[in-house]
Amino acid sequence: MQEVRVELGERSYSILTGTGLLVRSGSLFKERGVKGKILTVTNPTVAQWYLTPLLDSLAEAGYQAETVLIPDGEEYKSLEQAGRIYDKLVDGEYDRKSVLVALGGGVIGDLTGFAAATYMRGIRYIQIPTTLLAQVDSSIGGKTAVNHPKGKNLIGAFYQPNLVISDVGTFRTLPEREFSSGMVEVIKHGMILDPDYFEKLEHEAQAIKARDPEIMAEIVAGSCRIKAAVVQEDERETGRRAILNFGHTIGHALESITGYQRFKHGEAVALGILAALKIALRNKILDDAALYPKAAAMFESLGLPTKLPAGISCEGIMALLYLDKKVEYGKIRWILPKSLGQVLISSKIPPETVKDTLSELGGV
Ligand code: NAD
Ligand code: GLY
Repeated sequence: MQEVRVELGERSYSILTGTGLLVRSGSLFKERGVKGKILTVTNPTVAQWYLTPLLDSLAEAGYQAETVLIPDGEEYKSLEQAGRIYDKLVDGEYDRKSVLVALGGGVIGDLTGFAAATYMRGIRYIQIPTTLLAQVDSSIGGKTAVNHPKGKNLIGAFYQPNLVISDVGTFRTLPEREFSSGMVEVIKHGMILDPDYFEKLEHEAQAIKARDPEIMAEIVAGSCRIKAAVVQEDERETGRRAILNFGHTIGHALESITGYQRFKHGEAVALGILAALKIALRNKILDDAALYPKAAAMFESLGLPTKLPAGISCEGIMALLYLDKKVEYGKIRWILPKSLGQVLISSKIPPETVKDTLSELGGV
């Protein structure tokens, strides 16, 4: 087991990564001084494999624990489902010393964190992430949220968990596209901050594809270290934390234009990263031309897209990027690679460069 610390003063916490941790949750909670009544939030997909081992382990360690099941899907990251968690907490007379446990992917993690941030003005919560994306990204850093019918993550709070337990054994049941999508955030971490980590990902490509638990445990710990360092510097995204959004500008536009149906988040971000590389090359921000084929090869080997699917309109994407009421024309803050492991933020990218890049990637 590896332990990564997120140092945020009184909001500091540990991320425990490794194999076989889920069945040890009860004793890990005890070792870390967790006290109080526990409400576990999960969904039926995750529950079928991981709820009983978790509840058994909690009971063995002497914890009183109940469960609330949220239906599976992004559309259930909602105020309505947060309301179901509050109902269960109120009906069960959960007090301020109670603990919420999020067992699942980013949807369950964000929703549970939001409920924890708001119930009785804030109770403790523990993340037990079960997707790769949740282990390397959403469970760390305290961004919690629910969606509004008019937009994703519009209602939320920064609220750090008290403990994160990431068991890479849960990848065994993870669908292929979910795994690959999570790997995009891992590759992103290497590209923006750590050349050695990126090279390790290239070197271990086969073991990663096979989800080798030893390698995956190292990778999850590595990504947690990288993200923790950024969050420690800028917890509330007033500056540097924005670099974690590398590839997300065009990624979000692609998700939006396809009605959130065509792409997994990581698939859209993979295309966003390739676009950012091309934009940086065109604007002579990046001169290492080999980085693009390296990234594309990594994405390809994971079955991720490297070209836009047929029929994606460049004008449509441009409209989403530039005509959005929140964006002053031409003032998008692009996160662009300078070299492997280094990015800069620029608001000086001509829209024509973006359009040409989209067209080069297969846009019409
Ligand atoms: P998800 O939570 O929807 O999980 C993906 C699918 O995998 C679901 O069907 C889920 O039931 C299933 N699943 C989970 N664990 C499994 C396992 N071990 N085996 C088999 N199936 C499993 O999606 P996600 O990609 O984990 O998270 C996406 C969410 O995370 C979005 O809502 C996004 O906004 C949010 N997010 C938050 C942050 C943050 O900083 N808070 C960062 C990135 C993404
Ligand atoms: N996923 C981006 C962040 O946590 O800031």
